[in-house]
Amino acid sequence: MSALFQPYQLKSVTLRNRIAVPPMCQYSAVDGVAGDWHLTHYAALGRGGAGLVIVEATAVSAEGRITPGDLGIWNDAQGAALAQVAAAIKAGGAAPGIQLAHAGRKAGSNRPWEGDDQMAADDPRTWQAKAPSALAHGANWPRTPLEMSVADIAQVQRDFAAAAVRARDAGFEWMELHFAHGYLAQTFLSPYANQRGDDYGGGYANRSRFMIETLAAVRAVWPEHLPLTVRLGVTEFNGHDEAELLEAIALATRFRQDGLDFLDASIGFTVVGASVPWQQTGFMLPLAERIGRASGLPMAASWGLGEPELAQRAIERGQIALVMVARAHLANPHWSFHAARKLGVAEPAAALPPPYRYWLERYTAGD
Ligand SMILES: Cc1cc2nc3c(=O)[nH]c(=O)nc-3n(C[C@H](O)[C@H](O)[C@H](O)COP(=O)(O)O)c2cc1C
Repeated sequence: MSALFQPYQLKSVTLRNRIAVPPMCQYSAVDGVAGDWHLTHYAALGRGGAGLVIVEATAVSAEGRITPGDLGIWNDAQGAALAQVAAAIKAGGAAPGIQLAHAGRKAGSNRPWEGDDQMAADDPRTWQAKAPSALAHGANWPRTPLEMSVADIAQVQRDFAAAAVRARDAGFEWMELHFAHGYLAQTFLSPYANQRGDDYGGGYANRSRFMIETLAAVRAVWPEHLPLTVRLGVTEFNGHDEAELLEAIALATRFRQDGLDFLDASIGFTVVGASVPWQQTGFMLPLAERIGRASGLPMAASWGLGEPELAQRAIERGQIALVMVARAHLANPHWSFHAARKLGVAEPAAALPPPYRYWLERYTAGD
């Protein structure tokens, strides 16, 4: 029996296998509202065979979008459109998840294919970014954000809680908080981005406060029976990896005590010029495994795990509980089916809908 294709249960949700599609921004929303693109894209991923499909970074407020094309979840029209997306994923047999996000100092940017940079400050389409400190990210994000007041921080945390309520009401079953990739939450944790002098900056206890409070705000409203998860940048790959990992372990342990169910280990991306070991196959796996063993949280990881044997081995060895496969699902929404065939799984098309499954079970020659 293939480890990758074993069901996985977390709280009241049972995934049909250990394959998850992590969030991938489509930058294709109008006023934050999901449209036809999102419906068709997520419907395809939902029926593609993965156990879990997590909808892209969805902004908890207008200012929390990365680009004008980001999905949002701060009003009822956005919630109603997302309910259709969640239903489309579920109709395909996957559990519908969503990632709640705030862009922080990377807000007000162009879509990647229209520049992958921050819009000029006088561009009428942009807006003022806010962040823990008035420090620009650098490189393609040169604009200096406004330092958030304590009232701003409390507002963002209320926005996360309100967004979680909307996500719950829209039918999402798996909540992921975006605490990674150089966006708002990650920049609070990062000593390179956070140089505040108050209770939210300085030592680890203060830099972790924003995440701990935001998780608590969401925990208070997100149903106990549904998975509450975080994607955390656990290291920057900037030469201080061990110190950053130790903080990530402390934080994961604290998150677990505070009611977190699952952690996805990712990259910090708060510093320019980090040395991420892109060439090293499965480089996030040992980090995720270590954090999982130390904190007791079930883990996921991504980054280059779209090779079926590699994904399978990571699950078999117990390094992670779920494998997050992103870009390979853009290339092929039915990645799971092809992985199942490659791994010699009996009935590899079992998760596909009958109009596909019927034929693929019988006629596979020539492909
Ligand atoms: C088009 C695209 C959009 C992405 N958007 C998000 C996002 O919204 N939130 C997030 O946490 N990561 C995002 N990511 C990162 C992916 O979730 C994933 O971690 C990364 O692509 C590595 O996995 P892979 O090697 O399987 O592609 C995005 C990646 C891509 C390619």
